[in-house]
Amino acid sequence: IPLFCKQLFRLVELQPARAAWIGDIRAGTTVSYGNQIKASCHLIAFNADSAGVLGIVSLDCQDGGKRAVSQLHCHSDTVTDFDFSPFDQLLLATGSADKTVKVWCLSENGQDLPASAGVILGPEGCQVDMLQFHSTADGVLASGAGRRVKIWDVAQQQSLTELESHGDQLQSLAWKQDGALLGTSCKVSRAGSVQGHENNKDSRLIWMDASDYLLSVGFNQMREREVKLWDTRRFSHSLLSCALDSSSGYVWVPLCPGNPRVWVAMGTPGCIHWLRLGRLARGGSCAVGAALTLSVNQCVTEGKTQGAALVPKLALDVMACEVARVLQLTDSFIVPISYTVPRKEFHEDLFPDSAGTLPSASSQEWWAGDNKQQLKCMSAFCPALPSSLPCFYGPSLTHHVVLFPQDGSGLSSPSSSLTSPSMAPSVSTTSGFASSSSQRSLQSILGPSSKFRHAQGTVLHRDTHITNLKGLNLTTPGECNGFCANQQRLAVPLLSAGGQIAILELSKPGRLPDTSIPTIQNGTPVADFCWDPFDLQRLAVAGEDAKIRIWRIPPGGLQKMLLEPEAVLRGHTEKIYSIQFHPQAADILASSSYDMTVRIWDLRTKQEVLCLKGHTDQIFSLAWSPDGRKLATVSKDGRVRLYKPRQSLEPEQDGPGPEGSRGARVVWACGGHYLLVSGFDSRSERQLYLYKADSLSAGPIAVGTVDVSPSTLIPFYDEDTSVVFLTGKGDTRVFVYEIVTEAPFFLECNSFSSSDPHKGFVFLPKTTCNVREVEFARALRLRQSSVEPVVFKVPRVKKEFFQDDIFPPTTVWWEPALTATAWLTGSNAQHQMLNLQPKDMTPVSEAPKDVPVRKYAPSSVYLEEKSDEQKKEELLSAMVAKLGNREDPLPQDSFEGVDEDEWVGRHG
Ligand SMILES: *[C@@H]1O[C@H](CO)[C@@H](O)[C@H](O)[C@H]1NC(C)=O
Repeated sequence: IPLFCKQLFRLVELQPARAAWIGDIRAGTTVSYGNQIKASCHLIAFNADSAGVLGIVSLDCQDGGKRAVSQLHCHSDTVTDFDFSPFDQLLLATGSADKTVKVWCLSENGQDLPASAGVILGPEGCQVDMLQFHSTADGVLASGAGRRVKIWDVAQQQSLTELESHGDQLQSLAWKQDGALLGTSCKVSRAGSVQGHENNKDSRLIWMDASDYLLSVGFNQMREREVKLWDTRRFSHSLLSCALDSSSGYVWVPLCPGNPRVWVAMGTPGCIHWLRLGRLARGGSCAVGAALTLSVNQCVTEGKTQGAALVPKLALDVMACEVARVLQLTDSFIVPISYTVPRKEFHEDLFPDSAGTLPSASSQEWWAGDNKQQLKCMSAFCPALPSSLPCFYGPSLTHHVVLFPQDGSGLSSPSSSLTSPSMAPSVSTTSGFASSSSQRSLQSILGPSSKFRHAQGTVLHRDTHITNLKGLNLTTPGECNGFCANQQRLAVPLLSAGGQIAILELSKPGRLPDTSIPTIQNGTPVADFCWDPFDLQRLAVAGEDAKIRIWRIPPGGLQKMLLEPEAVLRGHTEKIYSIQFHPQAADILASSSYDMTVRIWDLRTKQEVLCLKGHTDQIFSLAWSPDGRKLATVSKDGRVRLYKPRQSLEPEQDGPGPEGSRGARVVWACGGHYLLVSGFDSRSERQLYLYKADSLSAGPIAVGTVDVSPSTLIPFYDEDTSVVFLTGKGDTRVFVYEIVTEAPFFLECNSFSSSDPHKGFVFLPKTTCNVREVEFARALRLRQSSVEPVVFKVPRVKKEFFQDDIFPPTTVWWEPALTATAWLTGSNAQHQMLNLQPKDMTPVSEAPKDVPVRKYAPSSVYLEEKSDEQKKEELLSAMVAKLGNREDPLPQDSFEGVDEDEWVGRHG
């Protein structure tokens, strides 16, 4: 699936505390073409669990109390669809399998519901499948029943017209914003009438604001979700199409009707996805040649999504910079998910004039042919802006600077092809790292960039996956990575009493048998676990019973149940948070515990040898320095500490750590001279902090916000490239930064995203990387029931040469440099280094200079030589190629590490 994550504005997704969820709702599982849930400025209506009944609840929570849900008994059979009038927030139309359409007048508090409908329309010849109120004329309602569309004048209780050109079952209907056109889609897709989607399972239509563009969503022949963009003035073929994935259960919500940057959210069980329509034509109308951008946000939902609805613009909290709110309907909750923009990025453009609540015509006027432009609600937002909301027009906003996407290669890199140079530019707003100030200069945005910025993460072929994993325990504590792996095998805890652990051999990919597989019987739930770096058969498991068990896996993998550990380490008095092997000395392990100590163990004697003190609260994470002399910790008590365990049991240094109490991680960076901490600030934003390891008390030298999400970002730092990969359990995105020791410290690189959240993401040793393919990191991604390898590559042209700038000699960390005794008695050592260069390759630094290097002109040049029409065609076809066939070689795959000027765009 193509996944693209650049967004024009940094949107923050907020899922309010459970208290704000609307409970006690018992949603039904109605199968229909309807939305299952809708909202007006006052009320929410949803399909309840008994046929013919809608649940009604007020949108706002009065006095912060619990909201009462009332039942509207409206039909004698299933309610298939319903819609609130845009002009009367209490007027609800309902359509049913009982063949009638009814219109109800509700009360503002959602209580005291009427016993009978104000108006009854029909009966129709068959069940009513869908309804939509007209967008500009009062009291005009379109209903679809079977193959027929009827347009009703509600007040007169009569039909104005009947559209009968449909050859088969209708699936969707949608009024254009100006109310002049109605789009429909039906099973054989004769809409308007073109072949829409090849598979006729379901389809939906969404108008792109007031334009002539229409987005349709359906299934292709492969039964994959497919999105197509149509120009209704040239309806013979779609402009763009984009296959998504084959999961069903999506719900489509146009997220910002009336905003040129149209968003669509799709709730699947577990995630919300965004689809964005970018802009291609400069200065032109937003939709002239548009590009689809799919970005996948992190997992936000708990239950299965039954439906989703958008709250009307006028009901949003503008003061809080809320730009959209989606209501997710699950079996037992309505979960409001709010999207806000950080204030420093606020711009009136986020709140374009919104459709007002006054109709621009009566039904009779409209029917007589008066397509008046809808009255715009001019005053709702901008003039009311409090002066405390700054409007910045600096480079952090997209309107005034035209850039090539910072991470992108112009036309066709996945994250940027869809925000290509001549359209709305994409400024890197995800990090705010270089400087949080919106005043930062253009240069600092373009600033130094990483040679890994085009890095691409790819899931390897299915043949390498391990599938049919069953009964995994995916709720490991925050200090644990969820699973652990070395170059030969992985360990993952199972859902069962007594802490069972499955061991899976990476050399044996494929489908696991349905029967249960041999496991380690740890005897107590797993708190954390890790493989001995010097012994691929040895797994250390910290238990909730305060003991650490050392298990030995027979060569070739587990054949039968393992009941007896090789050793048990006893000493902690309370349960353990995390454990970590020493990077240099064999048989040395460190552990942290609820008893607020960090203990260091000698596995040969099974004895505790050192016990470090000084913590006053939970120890979130510990990390040995690469030279094995020091140990860093980050704690809930708000401190980052550094120990030299052999010299003192008290911290040698400490400094201020993250304020947030949800969790944190620490890793060493830049030759062991820096510490990188990932944690939360007091507002629960996920942040990165960089410290100089010799001056912790001075606090972090750099801090950057990543995003807002509940799970701790778990860092993996690659010493050879100084690249850090960060992702949380339950996330869909892996952030990638190169860490440098001067400003801006964090250089953002292409991130990797997937369509469904991962339960764990663990990196493998460098030696597993295919250097011929310029693969500089390899990881395993744990999903609900499978494990997939993911590789990170740097696109290079001269791949026949060994890319020695990317692959310096690597540390032979898998052989011990010291014995436990030597380390404990004060010796130090260094690991051997290994050159990764294959014998038959020449380093690229020694490549003859006259090797012709294919270079593409910068996109700006490329675009200026062409006519507008050509440009559009080419951009579109580049995108279609990109979207349609991910296997095709792409222009940017041929790029060498490019010159900076090729990426620096024009100023708009
Ligand atoms: C899953 O593992 C955690 C600890 O890692 C444990 O507390 C929990 O009980 C386990 N759940 C089940 C159902 O085994």
